[in-house]
Amino acid sequence: MQWFSVAALALVAPANAMLRFSCSELVVDRIDPLVNPGQAPSPHLHQLVGGNALNITMNPSLDLPTQSTCTSCTFSEDFSNYWTAVLYFRARNGTYKRVPTFANQFLEPANGGITVYYIPPYDNRSKVTAFKKGFRMLVGDPMKRKNMNDAESRQLSFRCWEKNFGGEQGAPGTGSDTRYLPNKPCPGGIRANHFFPTCWDGKNLDSPDHKSHVAFPSSGTFESNGPCPASHPVKIPQVFYEVAWDTSQFNDPNEWPEDGSQPFVFSTGDGTGYGSHADYVFGWQGDALQRAMDAFCNVYCPTLKSQSTQTANQCTVKRRVNEPIDQWLTELPGDNPVTYS
Ligand SMILES: *[C@@H]1O[C@H](CO)[C@@H](O)[C@H](O)[C@H]1NC(C)=O
Ligand SMILES: *[C@@H]1O[C@H](CO)[C@@H](O)[C@H](O)[C@H]1NC(C)=O
Ligand SMILES: *[C@@H]1O[C@H](CO)[C@@H](O)[C@H](O)[C@H]1NC(C)=O
Repeated sequence: MQWFSVAALALVAPANAMLRFSCSELVVDRIDPLVNPGQAPSPHLHQLVGGNALNITMNPSLDLPTQSTCTSCTFSEDFSNYWTAVLYFRARNGTYKRVPTFANQFLEPANGGITVYYIPPYDNRSKVTAFKKGFRMLVGDPMKRKNMNDAESRQLSFRCWEKNFGGEQGAPGTGSDTRYLPNKPCPGGIRANHFFPTCWDGKNLDSPDHKSHVAFPSSGTFESNGPCPASHPVKIPQVFYEVAWDTSQFNDPNEWPEDGSQPFVFSTGDGTGYGSHADYVFGWQGDALQRAMDAFCNVYCPTLKSQSTQTANQCTVKRRVNEPIDQWLTELPGDNPVTYS
C-alpha cells in the first residue's frame, strides 16, 4: 500500500489521528441488505464496497471475515460493507447516464468506490468502543428533499472540486461545501461527505429504522469532544465516507438544463442532494479496529494488515439484478421519478 505523507493529508483532512483508506468498487447493484434484505431488486441502485460476503440478505449472525474470501478495502482485515446511492446525469433530452466514482486524492489507483475513515476522539487520549459483530447503521434519508438543519442533515454535504482536487479548504461540510448538489459545474468532480453518528446505546446492534440505536453528541460535536447523551452513552469511532463522483465529463453547458438548474440526480430520484444517505455493516476481523483506534493510528497503521490497492481492485462480486444501468437510460433503474421537493 502506498502511504502518502501526513503533510499531504493535512490538505484533505483536519489535524487529527484517523484511519483513511480506499475501498474500491465491489459492485453496482440494486440490492440493500440493510434496509431491504431479501429484495432483489431493492428500490434504488447502490454502489457497494468491502468484503465479498456481500449478499441480498445478510443476517447479523453472519461472520463476514470467515464468509469473505477477499475485500476491496486496502486494510485487508476489513470485510465490512459500505454503500451509498448512485449518481446519474440527466441530459437535456431527458435520458440518464450513470456517473462513475473515481479514486480520491492520494488513493490512486483505486477503482473508484468509497474512501473510508474511522476517527478516534480528537483529544488523542480518550477511548472509543469499536463496533461489535453484527453492528450496522444508516445515516441520512433517501426521501428527504429539503434542508432540515437537524444534527443528521449537518453530517451530509458536497464539495465542488476544482481540477486535480483543487478547492480543498477546511473540514468536510465547512467552507463552501453545500448540503445540496452543487448548482454549478465542478471542474474536478463532486465529493460527497457522509458522517455517521458517534454514540451508541451499548445494547442494540441494529434498530428497526437502523438509526435509533445510535445518536449524535448531546451538545457540541464529535470534533469538539462533545458528550454522548445518557440514552446512548457509549462513544464509538466516527465513521466517515467520501465518494468522489466523476461529474467532470458531464460539464458541457449545452447539456445542462436551460433554466439554470443542475443536472445530477441520485438513483433514489433525489434531484436536490438532501436525500444523500450511507449504509454501514461492520465486518472487521477480531479486535483489529479496536487496536487501530487505541493506537490513534494516523493513516499509517502498523497494527493492521494491508494489501495493495491493485489487489483490492481485484475483489469484485457479480451483480444479482440484471438490468441496464450504464447505457443512456430513459428512466432511472426502478423507474424512480425525479423529485425536487
Ligand atoms: C492529535 O494527533 C494528531 C496526529 O498525530 C495531531 O496532528 C494533533 O495535533 C493531535 N491533537 C491533539 C489535540 O493533541
Ligand atoms: C448469498 O446467499 C445465498 C442464499 O442464502 C447463498 O446461497 C450464497 O452462497 C450467498 N453468497 C455469498 C457470497 O455468501
Ligand atoms: C440524449 O443526449 C445524450 C447526450 O447528448 C446523447 O448521448 C444521447 O444519444 C441522446 N439520446 C437520444 C435518444 O437522443
